[in-house]
Amino acid sequence: MTKQQHFGWFLSRGFGPHGWARPYYEWNYDWCRPGLYQEGARTLEQAGFDFMLIEDALSVGISPATLDLRVRKAYGGPKHDPWTLAPYLFAATEHLGVIPTANPAAWHPYTAARQFASLQHLSGGRLGLNVVTDVGSAHHFGQDRLPHDAAYDRAQEWLDALRLLWRSWEDGALIADPETQIYADGTKIRAVAHRGAFWSFDGPLNAEPLSSEPAIASPGGSPRGIRFAGQNSDIQLALSNLDVEAVRSYRERVRADAVEHGRDPGAIKTMFVFKPIVASSTEEADRIVAASANPDDAALLAVAEAWSSDLETDLTALDLDRPLDPAIFGEHVSQGTIKGLRGRFDSFADVPFREILAGKARLGRIGDGISGTVGTAEELADVIQALGDDADNDGLIFSGDLHPVTLHRALDEIVPILRRRGILRTEFAPGGLHANLSSF
Ligand SMILES: Cc1cc2nc3c(=O)[nH]c(=O)nc-3n(C[C@H](O)[C@H](O)[C@H](O)COP(=O)(O)O)c2cc1C
Repeated sequence: MTKQQHFGWFLSRGFGPHGWARPYYEWNYDWCRPGLYQEGARTLEQAGFDFMLIEDALSVGISPATLDLRVRKAYGGPKHDPWTLAPYLFAATEHLGVIPTANPAAWHPYTAARQFASLQHLSGGRLGLNVVTDVGSAHHFGQDRLPHDAAYDRAQEWLDALRLLWRSWEDGALIADPETQIYADGTKIRAVAHRGAFWSFDGPLNAEPLSSEPAIASPGGSPRGIRFAGQNSDIQLALSNLDVEAVRSYRERVRADAVEHGRDPGAIKTMFVFKPIVASSTEEADRIVAASANPDDAALLAVAEAWSSDLETDLTALDLDRPLDPAIFGEHVSQGTIKGLRGRFDSFADVPFREILAGKARLGRIGDGISGTVGTAEELADVIQALGDDADNDGLIFSGDLHPVTLHRALDEIVPILRRRGILRTEFAPGGLHANLSSF
């Protein structure tokens, strides 16, 4: 029996200038206006995707010296607030979940609980929060940068506080009875008091109680990140090689952690980020892979530019024929991102920087490790099906911008095949995002 899986779309560079510097950019749209995203949201809903998740970074950069790296090619900014975009996406769709990114550093729990409750009502239960722990924007909020695990502790306190507020109206508090003309019973509203390490405030929440709370997504892959997911999340955004062993073991770690926290492991869907390149034939797929094997200096520079933005370190002027000195990275730069740049190499020493960049530019055939993304729609569907059938995979999150070209190239051929094989849903469950996530 083929396993049905969940699908989402990760708007991976957030609410920003989509597809900038790509040949398809000048297509008569304005990234600041909602039309492009609404069209994308409708396409995803039409395809049978459960949700769209919107990446966000609050900050355009840490120091004046690195600002240019972030904005020059629009890799790191400008970026607008995904929470302001969400209502436009809900208005354009009926079933699609929308999961903007929320960094607890930026939201007082009371403001967050009230705003998210409002959106959950407005959307008919289709809201989710992608809870992130990045501390790079601390200075905008007059905060010190928390260490890695402490940022998760803060996220935990924040989420606990949101739930306390959402539950401050007990069952039966809402009456809304036209006969008696009584709207609510104030004796059933609890005056909760939160006293924590990061926030102290009093409730109750001034919002109508929720029949279903927003879904929680989390992207952190460290041991502390997985613990956070096990305790809280409905969706874990996972990064891994897309092979049966790696997918199975990542999923098992998340599920074991959920059990440790007294949860049903089926209540959390581990979904792997996936960015396929769909070729029209196996010959074309082979050609794409072969063409990427020996990137020229212009291609290497493009890779260096993208990583310069993520690492807030200018890699574009380095000598390509000498090893990179890791001392160029400031202390604030994420070790995970540095490791991501290093790829298969154990260290930067003795490896010409050209080789590191070439490793990032090279593409592989689907099924061939983390760089294996190129295949025909049938081959890609085979891998997706095998992950479900052999690794019990819960689902995949396609990643990219929302330009129509990106969406249609990624989905047009794969979606019908997944449908025919019974892997992708053909209809939505009534009741919103939670209902869809738990419908199989
Ligand atoms: C797939 C993925 C998506 C992420 N999306 C965001 C994001 O949108 N905004 C953000 O500030 N951080 C984002 N993060 C960073 C995480 O919230 C976290 O700070 C980081 O992964 C470090 O935690 P870890 O060591 O547990 O992975 C993302 C991380 C991953 C792996």
